[in-house]
Amino acid sequence: MKLNRPALAGAIAALLLSRGTCVLAAPDPEALVDQHHCMFCHTVESPFLAPSFQQIAQRYRDVPNASTMLEQKLRLGGRAHWGDTAMPLAAERGGPISREDTHTLVQWVLSH
Ligand code: HEC
Repeated sequence: MKLNRPALAGAIAALLLSRGTCVLAAPDPEALVDQHHCMFCHTVESPFLAPSFQQIAQRYRDVPNASTMLEQKLRLGGRAHWGDTAMPLAAERGGPISREDTHTLVQWVLSH
């Protein structure tokens, strides 16, 4: 049997759409947010113990290489950019976090 290319392409497109992402097998950002307790201090819209994800996205929208800086900060820590309180290190937030997961999370935060 020959592979039916249009049907295959359609199936892949449907799969991508249904996942709401353009990368196959990417981890789900919302699950990672839960797993790492990001919402313990952050919310999407209102500043709470930490800047909201919308504020963060707005601040870094036009900053070149912001995502690289933020990924590094999430994984390894860094000085505070919003006030006197730096974000606790990953180990104190719920456990170590992989490079790939950090990338997914930062892309997600910056998409707000
Ligand atoms: C214990 C509280 C706490 C938790 C949990 C937490 N954050 Fe934060 N976060 C902060 C604080 C406080 C700041 C502001 C730090 C600063 O001034 O740079 C911050 C800042 C940030 C920033 C902006 C950093 C910058 O340099 O501007 C990002 C992005 C971010 N958090 C993402 C996350 C993600 C993703 C998670 C989950 C993996 C998370 N945070 C979990 C408290 C927290």
